[in-house]
Amino acid sequence: MFEVNDPEFDWFLQQVKKHLNIDLTGYKQHRVHRRVNMLLRRHNVESYREYLKMILGDQKFRDEFLDKMTINVTEFFRNPEKWGELQNYIKDMVKDLRGFRAWSAGCSTGEEPYTIAMILEELRAPSRASVLATDLDPWVLEKAKRGIYEERSMVNLDEAMRNRYFIKHDDGTYEIKPFVKSRVTFKRHDLILEPYENGFSLIVCRNVVIYFDQPTKDKIYRKFVEALNTGGYLFVGSTERIFNYRELGLEMVSPFIYRKRG
Ligand SMILES: C[S@@+](CC[C@H](N)C(=O)[O-])C[C@H]1O[C@@H](n2cnc3c(N)ncnc32)[C@H](O)[C@@H]1O
Repeated sequence: MFEVNDPEFDWFLQQVKKHLNIDLTGYKQHRVHRRVNMLLRRHNVESYREYLKMILGDQKFRDEFLDKMTINVTEFFRNPEKWGELQNYIKDMVKDLRGFRAWSAGCSTGEEPYTIAMILEELRAPSRASVLATDLDPWVLEKAKRGIYEERSMVNLDEAMRNRYFIKHDDGTYEIKPFVKSRVTFKRHDLILEPYENGFSLIVCRNVVIYFDQPTKDKIYRKFVEALNTGGYLFVGSTERIFNYRELGLEMVSPFIYRKRG
């Protein structure tokens, strides 16, 4: 893999870790390097030292930096056919008397965990069936908690689903209804740095680890398997494959959906 050999840049990443509590060293380095350099050029800044001062001193620049490092693009029922398939597995699990708990890891602005909550509603799951939704970026979590969305997030939702689960506002935005919201708990969590909760029937982690290098991905998948109940499912993004799934204790149910073996 292409390595970035730049001591100044390494120093910058260490400072970001120290001051912002974000470890970018597990991310694909050439990508992080390219994006930071783009921001330096945009603001006419000559050195990483100067840029660090800028992001530590001004919320606006800090938000822009976080935004560029962690792409937040998402939508409801992203890849609808895969969600349709997953719904069948969830259907069997919600009958489990131990209760159903899902985790949307890297949930961005909330479309993904609310998708799981809507599926639970469609299946008339008991109200204790819940979703933990986590992300590194506090800004996206604020937006997720507000639960107000533009048309571009809604493309996979037909009229009936929109009416059932959203309040339409005069300005054309859609707000998720309180009974759907109440199934989801949002928390800030870093998948690289922090310990994981456990006892999940389903973990959805899509379009997040694509930014990480292979050793970091491996570690994260191992921790996901530990966090899953036996028989629980791991749903990954539509360009992501876990090549060593057998070694991790998973079976492949279909492309991008894995199940923890007993
Ligand atoms: C492209 S979005 C994916 C959203 C959703 N999962 C989907 O597939 O539509 C990637 C999200 O991963 C989050 N992320 C990046 N690094 C992370 C980390 N180390 N821990 C937790 N979340 C992270 C970003 O903040 C961003 O919101």
